[in-house]
Amino acid sequence: MQKAITKAVIPAAGLGTRLLPATKAQPKEMLVIIDKPVIQYVVEEAVQSGITDIVIIISAGKEVLRGHFDRDEALEHLLEKRGKTAELEAIRSLSNLANIQYIYQHEQKGLGDAILCAEAFIGNEPFAVLLGDTIIESEVPLTYELAKVYEQYGSSAVSLQRVPMEIAHRYGVFVGNHLGNKLYSATALIEKPPKGNIPSDLVFSGRYVLAPTIFHHLRNTPPGVNNEIQLTDAMRLQMQAEPLYGHVFDGRRHDVGNKLDFIKTNLLMGLNDPEIGLELREWMKRI
Ligand code: G1P
Repeated sequence: MQKAITKAVIPAAGLGTRLLPATKAQPKEMLVIIDKPVIQYVVEEAVQSGITDIVIIISAGKEVLRGHFDRDEALEHLLEKRGKTAELEAIRSLSNLANIQYIYQHEQKGLGDAILCAEAFIGNEPFAVLLGDTIIESEVPLTYELAKVYEQYGSSAVSLQRVPMEIAHRYGVFVGNHLGNKLYSATALIEKPPKGNIPSDLVFSGRYVLAPTIFHHLRNTPPGVNNEIQLTDAMRLQMQAEPLYGHVFDGRRHDVGNKLDFIKTNLLMGLNDPEIGLELREWMKRI
């Protein structure tokens, strides 16, 4: 029986250049969808999946992410004095979600390098990775599903999505054998393959549960696409030594890192929101 997965890394050190000027003084992970910043949805998914210890990888200028989850006694006191109980609860629960630590990635050397920054925090146990700019809407939290695959098979499990072939080159691409149901076993992994040479329409979708051997492979991974240390390249090395599973999930992935997807995310999630969904639907029909 595997030990439960209780630690997670949330990489959030990237620059967010596709959303400038909105992200000049504000991290893209702090952009608001409905009434919460993106990073809060990501942390909530981790917590709902059984994660108790989280490290968020940040870079200079992203300290506001920390401010969002740290306790703010002055604000709590003020809300208490004004009798704003619901708001007080919302603020307090944020600082009680999980044990959250922060580590700086000093140079933007890629997703793989960001994960490597968390090695001392993670130690020698399997852990989850949740991309900080990606919200997953699904009935069962996706990280929970991956943790179950890990616990059952004792090897790394990554989330996959099918995308149209014409856009697969934007992603890390997974090639594998179908084991049944939603499960695949990897035979090849390629980060952002060239347009004319796409071997599969299954792509990485922002959630991973990894064996700690990944740190060894990350240290041996040379710079890849965009001259960055790619997590996909390290997983390819890992895959040669131990099995790696892919899990195709039911649900929606929202990458809020570009304009169109940011708006779509707000609309789609707004339509499902119990408070504003109905009115928003009516208004959209009218216009
Ligand atoms: C990263 C990963 C890629 C994955 C994508 C979406 O790329 O490197 O493998 O498919 O996230 O989850 P990025 O979007 O940061 O370029």
